[in-house]
Amino acid sequence: MKKRSVRELDARGKRVLVRVDFNVPVRKGEVTDDTRIRRALPTIQYLLEQGARPILISHLGRPKGERDPRYSMDPVAKKLEELLGAPVEKLDIAAGPEAEEALDDWNGEGVVLLENSRFYAGETKNDPDFSEQLCNLADLYVNDAFGAAHRAHATTVGVAEMLPAAAGFLMEEELDNLDKILGAPERPFVAILGGAKVSDKIGVIHSLLEVADSILIGGAMCFTFFKARGYETGDSLLEEDYLEEAGRLLDEAGEKLVLPVDMVVAERMEEYTPSEVVKVEEMPAGMMGLDVGPETVEKFRGYIVGAKTIFWNGPMGVFEMDAFAKGTEGVARAVARSEAISIVGGGDSVAAVGKLGLEKEMGFISTGGGASLEYVEGKDLPGIAVLPNKEGS
Ligand code: 3PG
Repeated sequence: MKKRSVRELDARGKRVLVRVDFNVPVRKGEVTDDTRIRRALPTIQYLLEQGARPILISHLGRPKGERDPRYSMDPVAKKLEELLGAPVEKLDIAAGPEAEEALDDWNGEGVVLLENSRFYAGETKNDPDFSEQLCNLADLYVNDAFGAAHRAHATTVGVAEMLPAAAGFLMEEELDNLDKILGAPERPFVAILGGAKVSDKIGVIHSLLEVADSILIGGAMCFTFFKARGYETGDSLLEEDYLEEAGRLLDEAGEKLVLPVDMVVAERMEEYTPSEVVKVEEMPAGMMGLDVGPETVEKFRGYIVGAKTIFWNGPMGVFEMDAFAKGTEGVARAVARSEAISIVGGGDSVAAVGKLGLEKEMGFISTGGGASLEYVEGKDLPGIAVLPNKEGS
């Protein structure tokens, strides 16, 4: 990685503001998936070992710039303390004179976790006053929030412009792994894209066409491609505004873009509704496609088995419902079994891998959803661009 690393900071005795991505699912006051918290631990532990005083900040959900108890970091603090095995001093604020006072009073043991950065309107506006208030809390800044690096916010960009800054270990790991597949991937390089909307994936498909050997398309976004090809799609999800673009992509991609050959269809998106498998050219009226079919899984498996590099983002169907989870499961198991260098990104595909207990079987699981897609798309992520390069690079 070209960026200055936390290892290059002299953090002893210093207050270090660490931007983490603790945007984790919370239900009934409990964190239901702690992956992102666990993945940030190496940077936090390293800073503690260095004798630094880590002050952690993150967003959680999308509150509208004011305090909203539904998005409080309290459940995160509880989980973090459990995982870190060190005290977590949770503040109910994130900036301002009160926060400064609280930090002056802090006994310096363990870490401080500030309140949700998005409780402040200045966060998403990247407001310099808010950034300055945050800077007043610390001497150094470390960004370990790869998942939020595509956002130009105060905690990802503003503060990095004002304090001596560096990347944390998770950021480093994410960039090293993504660069591995983008630079000179071992071939064949197979990309697997799923999810509901083709509009979210157009950019990444264009970029992947340049580097990947095959792009397997699943999820509801395939219907926009089928419609562009002139097939009937019944009541399936469709993005009419993207039909032309989808048609152009199909022409441009030729055989590189691999679409499903059969689908699991049902009248409604409900768990126990009757379903059947149909060929994609024979989508019945009044039905919607909710998963890729068994023949498609076999076809995709063929590509996956032969791959040397795999990038997977997005589920193949409505995997939260057992009736429509087999496509995603089939792909997950094939990727898990493959010997290829594999990177899985995106909340839903990562959740599917977790549900199947296949995390350890995967090469690298990215903590970024939108961030990993934008990185693969070749975009400059503001939270990364702003970090200084290593000396001499
Ligand atoms: C994510 O979950 O992808 C990141 O935490 C970014 O969250 P956001 O889309 O609300 O900015």
